[in-house]
Amino acid sequence: MPAHPPASSPAADRSAEVDAVVQRAIATHAAEPGGLLPLLHAIQDALGWLPPDALPKVASALNLSRAEVHGVISFYHDFRTSPPGRRVVKICRAESCQAMGSDALVKHACSTLGMELGTTRPDGAFTLEPVYCLGNCALSPSIMVDGALHGWVTRQRFDALMDEVPEVE
Ligand code: FES
Repeated sequence: MPAHPPASSPAADRSAEVDAVVQRAIATHAAEPGGLLPLLHAIQDALGWLPPDALPKVASALNLSRAEVHGVISFYHDFRTSPPGRRVVKICRAESCQAMGSDALVKHACSTLGMELGTTRPDGAFTLEPVYCLGNCALSPSIMVDGALHGWVTRQRFDALMDEVPEVE
């Protein structure tokens, strides 16, 4: 009788993907001094967030408790503990951008996209996050859309950028 490959499922595929990413990040960063942060960043860069099933493996590889890893994740705003939306919009809230109108831009973004800052819209279309300096202060206010930096962002420019973002199924 011919051998059949093991049955696959989306959940099993996802779990295998998470495992591969985590093992790669551990192999690259676990031995570094202070390797926890780059390791977590590597996982988030690859998956878009830090799935809970990754954390025990990270803790074990670094000889840390789960609570210690969880504490670091909670401390840094950058880490996501839930999957991001299909488009990720970050609005700078640091000093220079505040001085150049980022408060008004945040209000506009929330009202235009129909969501609160620091959340993912229930339909999964957008994640809207605060960020604290994008290194683009000379062109404040600055935002980042799907990893692309934009400066001097007015409300009109924001709307145009959102219009450029296709809704991906
Ligand atoms: S303060 Fe916003 S980019 Fe630096």
